[in-house]
Amino acid sequence: MPHPYVLLSAAVSLDGYLDDTGPERLLLSGPADFDRVDEVRASVDAILVGAGTIRADNPRLLVYSPERRAARVEAGQPEYPLKVTVSGSGDLDPSANFWHTGGEKIVYTTEKGAERLRQEPVAADVVALGPELDWRRILEHLHDVRGVRRLMVEGGGRIHTQLLQQGLADELQLVLAPLLVGSPDAPRMFGPGAYQGGRLRLVETRRIEDVVLMRYEPTAPGTADLPSAADRHWLALACELAERCPQSRTAFSVGAVVVAADGMELARGYSREGTDPVVHAEEAALAKIGPADPRLASATVYSSLEPCARRASRPAPCARLILDAGVRRVVTAWREPDTFVAGADGSGLLTAEGADVVVLPEFEERAKAPNRHLIAPQD
Ligand SMILES: NC(=O)c1ccc[n+]([C@@H]2O[C@H](COP(=O)([O-])OP(=O)(O)OC[C@H]3O[C@@H](n4cnc5c(N)ncnc54)[C@H](OP(=O)(O)O)[C@@H]3O)[C@@H](O)[C@H]2O)c1
Repeated sequence: MPHPYVLLSAAVSLDGYLDDTGPERLLLSGPADFDRVDEVRASVDAILVGAGTIRADNPRLLVYSPERRAARVEAGQPEYPLKVTVSGSGDLDPSANFWHTGGEKIVYTTEKGAERLRQEPVAADVVALGPELDWRRILEHLHDVRGVRRLMVEGGGRIHTQLLQQGLADELQLVLAPLLVGSPDAPRMFGPGAYQGGRLRLVETRRIEDVVLMRYEPTAPGTADLPSAADRHWLALACELAERCPQSRTAFSVGAVVVAADGMELARGYSREGTDPVVHAEEAALAKIGPADPRLASATVYSSLEPCARRASRPAPCARLILDAGVRRVVTAWREPDTFVAGADGSGLLTAEGADVVVLPEFEERAKAPNRHLIAPQD
């Protein structure tokens, strides 16, 4: 199921704390960075904070600039983004600023939390999602029921930790402030636990007065049939590569990327790349990796079109090449239509031999774009 684009946003001290242990919220940024945060808020459909942040900081989470609010209204959006909180316990103060400022609000909670909120209601929609909270269900609900396409998450630490560990964050906007907290009991941005191995991708650094904004993207593929936010980034790259293929009337234009479990790109390729007029994208990418590379066994192949199951130009179809390379996870945007091969089922071949195939249909149109001359308008 599609999720909103999830952007984690926070400011931290040089020693990695989100706050100190005093009763007042620690101001880590300056006016120019608060204005940048206001701009980011104005660009999203919803802003989420955990119940811990409501209890600790009593935030309003508004777009403060009247010009930015006016621009939202002109664009047909609500004046303020939807405000979202998450609370297992339902222990929320009905007089907190969160409920009495801005536009619509929603609380995701458990059945137990919803029971408590019936006794002590807050001015918000209350959505109970069963005995436990599940982040994928929250994101699906926000996407499908509330129409949220971009979600800004403004903490606190427990929320950021879970979203990053579960591979659900598309982007991290981290502001590093030149001060030290030094108190082991203060809340940290990221708690202990299992994160992606390897490195995140640094997308941008920006000096803003005396703080530095760093933007990162997680890179690690999901596991088995569970997609991660990074799967979407890699599949988007495969769709971009498909645009580079020399056009053909007799074969699809496809892009492919092979990525190790720690998020390192091993190779990329596209149809008819270089001097080989019949090479397929997955074949071109796999040919660039040594067959004994131990990372292949836990790697993911991203292909804008499902790997082929039958092929006239070469003895082995791409689904077979992938299996023979030892790869057991494929993420694709588009199942192969009957244009050249009737009933091609590369996914069936892959799954029959134990591979996981994840189809992300939200990328289908992008995968089809360079192939429009080959497929019927309704396909
Ligand atoms: N520097 C910054 O940019 C920044 C930004 C935001 C916050 N902060 C700081 O962060 C601190 C708060 O962080 P925090 O980690 O204590 O709190 P938090 O992450 O804001 O919220 C944690 C709470 O959210 C609910 N929750 C989260 N995940 C859940 C799950 N899977 N199932 C059920 N409930 C779940 C629980 O609420 P219940 O307890 O109600 O069940 C939990 O106690 C404050 O000191 C604040 O100042 C700093």
